Amino acid sequence: MEDKLKAILSGATESIGRAEDAGALEEIRVRVLGRKGELTQILRGLGELPPDKRGAMGKLSNEIKAKVEAALEEKLSELKSSKFSKLLEEEWIDVTLESPGSTARAKLGHLHPISQIQYEIEDIFTSMGFMVLDGPEVETEYYNFEALNIPSYHPARDMQDTFWTEDGNLLRTHTSAIQVRGMEKHNPPFRVIGPGRVFRYEATDASHENTFYQVEGMMVDRDISVAHLIFFMKVLLREIFKRDVTIRLRPGYFPFVEPGFELDIQCLICGGKGCGVCRQSGWVELLPCGLVHPNVLQCSGIDPGAWSGFAFGLGLNRLIMMRYGINDIRHFQSGDVRFVRQF
Ligand code: PHE
Repeated sequence: MEDKLKAILSGATESIGRAEDAGALEEIRVRVLGRKGELTQILRGLGELPPDKRGAMGKLSNEIKAKVEAALEEKLSELKSSKFSKLLEEEWIDVTLESPGSTARAKLGHLHPISQIQYEIEDIFTSMGFMVLDGPEVETEYYNFEALNIPSYHPARDMQDTFWTEDGNLLRTHTSAIQVRGMEKHNPPFRVIGPGRVFRYEATDASHENTFYQVEGMMVDRDISVAHLIFFMKVLLREIFKRDVTIRLRPGYFPFVEPGFELDIQCLICGGKGCGVCRQSGWVELLPCGLVHPNVLQCSGIDPGAWSGFAFGLGLNRLIMMRYGINDIRHFQSGDVRFVRQF
C-alpha cells in the first residue's frame, strides 16, 4: 500500500507539472482527490487494514493528500501569474503615443470670433494712443441716455428700446455709456475706446439680435474736425480688412453727435458693382459716427469752447459678417460649435 501511495504522489506531481491550464489541474484534482479518486479510495480502504498498520498508513495518506493539494495550488497560482505576465508582454501599449490618425494632441479650443476681432481692434487703437475702457452691462439711465443728450422725453429713446430692471436700471443699449464714464474720469486731451456687449429689445432676424457687440471710440482734443474722424476710420478699416477701403459719409442722426454721419464702405464682396450683401447698392453701412455734441461734453464737465471731439460706433457682429461673408447674425450666439470652429 505504501508503494501505491507513493506512486499516486509521483503520478500526480508529474501530471501537475505538465498541466497547462486550470482545466487540466481540475481534472487531476478529480482523478486523485475526487469522490472516486485514487487517493480517496485508499483512504476508504484503510479500515480493512490490520489495526497496527492503520495509523501509519492513515498518516502517510493524509500527508500525500496535503502534498497533492499544495502542488495543485502552487501550480494554479503559477499559471495565473504567468498568464498575466504574458498579457503584459503581448498587449503592451505606450499610452504616451499619439493615437493613430490624429495629428494634433487633445483638440484645444480657441477664442470666439467676436473676441478675436475685439482684441484685434484694441491692438489697432492702442497702437494709436487710445486707452481701452470697460463699463457695466447693467447701466443707469443717466449714463446710457441722459448724459448722451437723450432726455426721457426724447423720441430717440425709441430707437434703442431695451430691457429694464425693476429698480430702474437697464441693460446698456450701446457702449457710448462707457465713453461718458471715460469723460468724467479723464481730462482732455484723451483718446478712448470701449468694447463690450450691448442689448436691444429687438425681434430677431438674420440681421437683428437682442445681444450683440460694439466697440465705440472717442477722441477729445483741441480743434478736432471731421478730417480727424475720417483719418482714424480709414486706418482702422485698412488694418481690419488688410486693404484700402473706399468710404463715403452720409448724414445720420444721433442726439450725441453734431454733425452725425453714417459711414458706408464700398462693398468688399462685389467691389461696388452690386450684390446680395450690399442689396445691389455697392455700399454697406458700417460705422455711425460724428463730432461729439457740445451738450455731451458740457454734461461731463468738459468745456466745449475749448475742446472738441469725434466719436464712432462699430458693430463687431456686422464687421465679422462682412469679413467672412456670414449671412445670419444669429449664428454668433447659437452655441453651435460647428460655426465657431471655422475661425
Ligand atoms: N451709440 C450709437 C449706437 O449704438 C453709435 C454711435 C456712436 C453713433 C458714436 C455715433 C457716434 O447706435
